[in-house]
Amino acid sequence: MKATIAVLPGDGIGPEVVAQAVAVLEASARLHGHTLHFEQALVGGAAIDRFGTALPEATLELCRRADAILFGAVGGPRWDDPSARVRPEQGLLGIRKGLDLFANLRPVAVPAALVGASTLKPEVLTGVDLIVVRELTGGLYYGERGRRRLNGQEMAFDTMVYSEAEVERVAHVAFRLARRRRRLVTSVDKANVLECSRLWRQVVTRVAGQYPDVTLEHQLVDSCAMMLVRDPRHFDVILTENTFGDILTDEAAQLTGSIGMLPSASLGEGPRGFYEPIHGSAPTIAGRNIANPLAAILSAAMLLRHSLGLEREAAEIEAAVGAVLDKGYRTADLAGPGEPVLGTQEMGAAVIEQLTRVREESPAR
Ligand code: IPM
Ligand code: MG
Repeated sequence: MKATIAVLPGDGIGPEVVAQAVAVLEASARLHGHTLHFEQALVGGAAIDRFGTALPEATLELCRRADAILFGAVGGPRWDDPSARVRPEQGLLGIRKGLDLFANLRPVAVPAALVGASTLKPEVLTGVDLIVVRELTGGLYYGERGRRRLNGQEMAFDTMVYSEAEVERVAHVAFRLARRRRRLVTSVDKANVLECSRLWRQVVTRVAGQYPDVTLEHQLVDSCAMMLVRDPRHFDVILTENTFGDILTDEAAQLTGSIGMLPSASLGEGPRGFYEPIHGSAPTIAGRNIANPLAAILSAAMLLRHSLGLEREAAEIEAAVGAVLDKGYRTADLAGPGEPVLGTQEMGAAVIEQLTRVREESPAR
């Protein structure tokens, strides 16, 4: 198979972790005889410095013609003036909207080897395996916003807007996913207060009618936030709108002990997708070879699965990550007191070594 992959490292630790993800993809392609063509482009603060915009036309154009996009992270103190007109996040938000990537998949599984790395009790975490489907191109992020002067003082507003069609298409993604899993969809909203949430609930309930084999439950977002730490094993597929999904996925990330472990995929109607570790640019640790590359590597696995249809190759990478963790390999964010620590490059190399060894031991797989 031949594919073009747009590589957008971005800012902070983005370039370091993406380099490891690309190396793992190259290794996998070599082992399986695929031809992956990587093309790099600037986004975020790096693009602002060079072109004065977080999303240069050439970057968006590359994303449009690529089969998949591998993204690092954007943002950092250099561009952090909240009142600035040009901000790094515009790169990310512009690609999501520009490519209509409305479904953001954020899987949260706690590998047995990492149960001790979380601040939560092992008995709460053992066996957690959930996925959040976050609506990504609507709601507060893209609604009308502004400032007014009212009664002699400054007033600000952001609006949450959802159409039936926007809710419907992302709901289908969640139900289809649930069919390949434990067949439970928890739709999360704030229907006791918000009109958008009442529409959300109505549409999701209607879509559920087409999936009689999947159980649908509704949960209020505040209660879901609580249940996520009280009984996370309960969840299979969590379906929610943009802002709630942003918040709940940071919370869910902590179940694994480190936000450095969580990959994500952002998908539209076709196979082209956008793959990104959810941890962000972490400027304070950038450039020191200490960031955890596993979220980026696991994002690369999702890329193979969702955009290129290479399920076996994806599963091999996931298994290799599991195996290096089982062997006790840890980056700084995961290491307990006294445990030896690997750098970003060393962790990437360990995954590649594992991947290669498994293939060589059983090439027929
Ligand atoms: C995320 C991030 C982004 C978001 C930021 C960087 C705009 O927090 O992907 O979760 O809020 O969507
Ligand atoms: Mg977030």
